[in-house]
Formats: sequence, C-alpha cells, structure tokens
Amino acid sequence: MTREPPAAAFDVAARDYDRRFTETEIGRVLRESVWRHLDAVLAPGSKILELGCGTGEDALRLAGRGHRVLATDVSPAMLEQASRKIETAGVADRVRFARVDLAAVAGEPEPPEAPFDAVFSNFGALNCIEDCSELAAVLHRWLCPGGRAIFVVMGPVCLWEIAWYGLHLRPRIATRRWRDGREVAIGENHNLRVWYPSPARLRDQLRPWFNVRATLGIGAVVPPTYAAAVIRNRPALLGRLDDLDRRWAHRSAGIADHYLLSLERSDRAAG
Ligand SMILES: C[S@@+](CC[C@H](N)C(=O)[O-])C[C@H]1O[C@@H](n2cnc3c(N)ncnc32)[C@H](O)[C@@H]1O
Repeated sequence: MTREPPAAAFDVAARDYDRRFTETEIGRVLRESVWRHLDAVLAPGSKILELGCGTGEDALRLAGRGHRVLATDVSPAMLEQASRKIETAGVADRVRFARVDLAAVAGEPEPPEAPFDAVFSNFGALNCIEDCSELAAVLHRWLCPGGRAIFVVMGPVCLWEIAWYGLHLRPRIATRRWRDGREVAIGENHNLRVWYPSPARLRDQLRPWFNVRATLGIGAVVPPTYAAAVIRNRPALLGRLDDLDRRWAHRSAGIADHYLLSLERSDRAAG
C-alpha cells in the first residue's frame, strides 16, 4: 500500500462511495438523522459552507430546501461526482464548488460568499485532520455573528464496531479507533491517517471559537453498513433501531459510530 495525500485515497473511494454508503438503507437512515437536526437549526434561505462534501448528497438536500451552499472537498473526483449530481437535479444556481484542503484552510482567501450563516461537515471529513483549532479560528472569521456549526465526526468508541469485529475475531479492526492518528486502509490500495477525537477533545479544540449547543449520537443503535446483515430480511427492524437511536441521541455520543456536535459561533472570542 502507498502513502498519499487524502485526495488520492478519496478519489478512488469516490467511484463507489454512493453505492457502498449513501444509497444503502442504513446510510439513508443515518443521513436522515443528521438532516433532521439541520432542518431544526438552519434558518430558511441560509448561506452554508460545507466541508468535505463528498459526492454532494447533503449539498443536494440543502439546495433543495432553498439554502445556498459553497460545497468544498479536497478530492477532485468527489467534487466531480457532486457537481454532476447537482447539475442533474437542476439546483446548480444554489451550489458552488471549490477544492479546499481542511488541513490548509488557514492559507485560503476568504470565500466571496462569506460571511456564512452556517458551516457543516458530515460523516467524518474532520477525522482527516489532527487538530481542528486552527480551522475553528478561520471558521469563526467566516461566519456571521450567531452563526451555526454542525460537525458529524467518528468518535473513539463505537460499540457496534467493537462487538461486530470482536465476534468475527478481528481484534485489530475492532480496536482500530484507539490507534489515533495511525494510517487506515481506504479501499484496497490506499492508506490515510485518521484521528478519532472524543466529543470532549473536539469541544476543547473548538473552544473558544464556538459554544456547544448539543452533542448527539448518530448510529449508536442503528448498525454501521458493514453490519447490514443484522437487518437483512427484517424490514421493520431498522425502523425500530432508528427510533431508539433518536430517543437516546442525547446520551449516546460516547458509544455511537458518529457523533454530531451542534455549535454556535462565540461572540467572546477575538475574531
Ligand atoms: C467519509 S467522506 C464523507 C463525505 C460526505 N460529507 C458525506 O456525508 O457523504 C469524507 C470526505 O472528506 C473529504 N476529505 C478528507 N480529507 C480532507 C481534507 N484534508 N480536506 C477536505 N476534504 C477532505 C474526502 O475527500 C471525503 O469526500
């Protein structure tokens, strides 16, 4: 396996990312949990900066709801897929794309759309950088007063993952999240460094730029896609697991596959 910048690994992942995750039953249920939160906190007609937009599924949803989106990613192949999706859906007037590396955001010029009403990053893009402090300072400058930030991140303990791979006698995968900052395999031939900050560690990195409004578990009870066998041929089960996830979301961030940090720009921090 080769060691490369994140774009190369995700350029390859882009080819079947939607088939492997976005279009799966579990992928849809997990994404809808995030969308419910977005619907609750975003003001109508918001101007949104999306980080690590992947194949554009969230940008599509946000544009469809009347928001305007600057959708960014480091991977040209992800951006290409996203742009095609947005064109096909006929909402290209509400979405602009830009290639942005989260690890180098401090050197980026302020986007012409700034100030944004909200910044959003879904399903683990922030796990690809070691420390979010510098990013938080930049986002603070690019957001309106009272602007919102919604980040969905993989935490260090996913009960499903430990149980699933433990039972399948694959202890290295069961405990992979405890090797913070080590390389993990993306696809068959690519390696990438990934960090798994706990909610407390990420909240510390984002302070003093943001105040925390909520921390929610996403996928504590609903299984990850690799454990889809659990729900196969049991059509009602996924709905029941999703109900439990919703009910326990305020308590499950420490054991879920992902957690959602919902934040508000702090007025006190120096811009
Ligand atoms: C697991 S995917 C999530 C994609 C999308 N947000 C979603 O919900 O489906 C992670 C995304 O983060 C992007 N990414 C990884 N490292 C990045 C970096 N340093 N800067 C910007 N984007 C990055 C990848 O290219 C990929 O599209």
